[in-house]
Amino acid sequence: MFLLHRGRRLRQNASIRSLVRETSLSPADFMFPMFIVEGENQEIEISSMPGIYRRSIDLTVKEVQELYTLGIRAVNIYVKVSDDLKDNTGKEAWNTEGLMQRTIRAIKATCPEIIVMPDVALDPYSIYGHDGIIKNGDVENDSTVEALVKMAVSHAEAGADFVAPSDMMDGRVLRIRKGLDEAGYTNVGIMSYSAKYASAFYGPFRDALDSAPKETGEVVPKDKKTYQMDYANRIEAIREAIWDVEEGADMVMVKPGTAYLDIVREVKDAVNVPVAVYHVSGEYAMIKAAAEKGWLDHDKTMMEQLMCIKRAGASLISTYFAKEAAILLNNNV
Ligand code: PBG
Repeated sequence: MFLLHRGRRLRQNASIRSLVRETSLSPADFMFPMFIVEGENQEIEISSMPGIYRRSIDLTVKEVQELYTLGIRAVNIYVKVSDDLKDNTGKEAWNTEGLMQRTIRAIKATCPEIIVMPDVALDPYSIYGHDGIIKNGDVENDSTVEALVKMAVSHAEAGADFVAPSDMMDGRVLRIRKGLDEAGYTNVGIMSYSAKYASAFYGPFRDALDSAPKETGEVVPKDKKTYQMDYANRIEAIREAIWDVEEGADMVMVKPGTAYLDIVREVKDAVNVPVAVYHVSGEYAMIKAAAEKGWLDHDKTMMEQLMCIKRAGASLISTYFAKEAAILLNNNV
């Protein structure tokens, strides 16, 4: 039969498919999120995130070296802060001897080549589990921004390569840029969580840090919807990303990942800086749980999701699968 188009010609074997493949994935595309706890020789698995641990600094450093050997070039750092250090000012967040600051120093001392991107937000330090300072029943924007600037500068002082504000306060990128420059850290970059949605997919992460908004009996918002975005919105994401670029963000991030790939593509087309995507804890947990039940093929669904995130326009992907995916990629699977 004469047919005008035979699309299957380009799919007939693995070699031709590899020649015409439009998107590629490599370990250097990944950033690995890590959870840090006090102590020594601590490695506690997070029950809703099998294979992901809260580690003390000594074991974190070892893990970072392994990640680097696998070709991973960046880590996102989150700390689990003890309850007695939490308050409504977040002041522990800029303690030069705080867990985050000690972690950054330890990683940079042993593996200086890896890009360290600490999380900038007050939730791990907040008695309320909110990303900022509570005043008059809500997170107050401007005083929170002041706190975030102090936090970001202290991260830079400890040796961070990038700071990653994940709080969704207005105007924080501009203020952080100004604060970093004034303190002399002109080479420390900002990866802004620009389009961060109020998402139920963050559940396992909040288990990991014990950072979910708390019931305290006081008048505080029970969720993060007054600062994180409404998942029904699209144009707002583009606006947020453009503002952040104008304010000096070196990279912008869309979060979560797979359910938001339309946003990734539109933000990618709207800005001229690298777009990062956070493949979040709930996305990880879903694949792990389905694979445990034998309902999905773990490795195949993992690789498919990561490739699709790149295809949508991500230049880099923060993912709990970074290590497993890097191992598969390095073995040419
Ligand atoms: C908090 C923060 C969250 C995540 C990263 N930074 C949770 C939240 O906003 O409540 C979620 C990441 C994940 O789910 O993997 N600043």
